[in-house]
Amino acid sequence: MAGLIADFTRHHPERRFELVARRLARSYGEAVDLTVYRAVQEGVTNAIRHAACARVAVTIEQGKDFTGADVVLVRVVDDGGGVTEPAPAGFGLIGLGERLRALGGSFHLHNVSEGAALDVVVPLTHSSARRLAAAPQ
Ligand SMILES: Nc1ncnc2c1ncn2[C@@H]1O[C@H](COP(=O)(O)OP(=O)(O)OP(=O)(O)O)[C@@H](O)[C@H]1O
Ligand SMILES: [Mg+2]
Repeated sequence: MAGLIADFTRHHPERRFELVARRLARSYGEAVDLTVYRAVQEGVTNAIRHAACARVAVTIEQGKDFTGADVVLVRVVDDGGGVTEPAPAGFGLIGLGERLRALGGSFHLHNVSEGAALDVVVPLTHSSARRLAAAPQ
């Protein structure tokens, strides 16, 4: 993930990219790991393409959803102009939505005070959540 952010920084030196990863296991299995990667990739690409922003902040952390189930939460926030409602559907978010649905997850693109935020919830199966205890970071 740090490599992905480094690539964005290299290709867009005029923008500031920040990555915070908290309470994450080394891996949650291929399906979850790839979905988290794709969510960050799409969220940051969208911020660059649509937001005319100076800063993109990515947060990835393991947490709980409102039912108490273990999830990985991804948030991509930019300081651009925000989303015009209703946001036109594009293939990027449709594809992300399909990938998330297969895992029982979801995303929400909305405006926050500084710009737009893409919030992504990726549910963990019990066995993948337990890996956190085995391999804390
Ligand atoms: N960070 C953002 N700021 C402002 N608008 C956004 C942002 N992210 C997405 N949008 C809006 O949501 C729309 C849908 O995004 P989506 O990624 O699905 O499609 P796209 O980026 O236009 O095309 P594609 O991803 O298929 O190349 C965008 O066209 C844009 O209007
Ligand atoms: Mg897109």
